[in-house]
Amino acid sequence: MKKIVLSLLALMMVLVSYAPTQVKAKGKTYEIGVAIYQYNDNFMTLFRNELASYFEELGKKDGNTYNLEFQDGKNDQATQTEQLNNFIAQGKDLLIANLVDPTGADQVILSAQNANIPVVLINREPDASTMKLWPGKTTYVGVDARQSGVYQGEIIAGLKNHGDINGDGVVKYIMIQGDAGNVDAEQRTKYSVETLNKTIKTEMLGEAQRGNWDQAKGQEIAANALSQYGDDLEVIFSNNDGMALGAVQAINGAGRKINKDIYVVGVDALPEVVELLGKGEFTGTVLNDHFNQSHTAAEVAIKLLNGEDVSPYFWHDYVKATKPEDAELKRLDYREETIEEYQTRIKEAYGE
Ligand code: BGC
Repeated sequence: MKKIVLSLLALMMVLVSYAPTQVKAKGKTYEIGVAIYQYNDNFMTLFRNELASYFEELGKKDGNTYNLEFQDGKNDQATQTEQLNNFIAQGKDLLIANLVDPTGADQVILSAQNANIPVVLINREPDASTMKLWPGKTTYVGVDARQSGVYQGEIIAGLKNHGDINGDGVVKYIMIQGDAGNVDAEQRTKYSVETLNKTIKTEMLGEAQRGNWDQAKGQEIAANALSQYGDDLEVIFSNNDGMALGAVQAINGAGRKINKDIYVVGVDALPEVVELLGKGEFTGTVLNDHFNQSHTAAEVAIKLLNGEDVSPYFWHDYVKATKPEDAELKRLDYREETIEEYQTRIKEAYGE
C-alpha cells in the first residue's frame, strides 16, 4: 500500500514538473495585429503596454502563444489603413484597432470580414452603424465619454465655491479640446459644462480650442488664456490629462496657484497627475481605466480567436478622482451590451 502511495506521489511529481511544457506543447500560436492611432500619446502608451503584458500573462496561463505586432499609425489615417491592410494580407488571426479616424472604420471591418479576421476596436468609439456590419465578429471595448464629462463637471461643482473663485456668481472657464470629430473630445466638452451649469452659471472665455490631446499645445493655449484673461480665468477644463499637464506648466509659469486661485480638471488619471493630486496641486481628474479596458480587450480577443461570437459592446466605467486612492487600478467586471441595449440606456440617461 505504502509502495503504491509512493509511486503515485512520484508520478504526480513528474506530471507536475512537466505540466507547463505539456500545456505549451498543446498550445496554439496566434498572430494579432494591433494598430495604435499614435505612439506619441501618454494615455495610449499606458494602454498599449498593459495590453502587451496582459496577453503575455494570459499566454503563460493557457499555454498559447499570442504574438502581437504593434504599429504606430502616426496620427495619419492613410498610414494606418496601409498598416491594417498589411495585417490582413499577412493573414493575422485577429486585429485590435485604435483607429485614427473611427468614421473610416467601415472599410476596415469590411476588408477584415472578407478575410475572415475578427476585429476588436478600442479607445475611439465608432458609430453604432459600424457595429452592425459584421455582428458577432466586431466589438468595441471602451468607456462612455459622456460619463467622463459629467464627472469633470461634478468635480468642479463639488468644490465649496463651485469653481467661482471671485464670488461673482459665474464660473469663467476655458475649454482645451482633443481633436475634431473625436467622440471623447465632443462628449467631454459638452457634458462637463452642462453638468456644472446645473449648480452654477458658467461663461466660456473665448472659443473652445483644439490642443489635439497634446501637452505642448495645452500649455500654449493655457498660457495665452492666462495672459489674455488674467484673474478672470477661474477654471481650466481639459479633455485629457496630457493637455492639462501643459496647462499646469503654464499656470506655474504665470505664478498662479492651483486650487487657490485657479482650478484644473482633466481626464485619464495619468501617473504624473495622480502624483500632483497627492500634493494638492491638481483639482481633479477622471480615471480612464486603461487597465480594465486592455484586459477586457484581450479576453474578448481570445473568445474571438476561439471561434466564439461576441457582443458589440463591452464597457467599463470612468472613475472620479480627486485623491490618489480614487485612481487605483483593480480588475473589475465589464458591462456587455447589444446595440439596442446601449442606445436605450443612453436615451434614458442623457436623452440623446
Ligand atoms: C484619452 C486621451 C487620448 C485619446 C486618444 C482619450 O480617451 O483621454 O488622453 O489622447 O483618448 O484617442
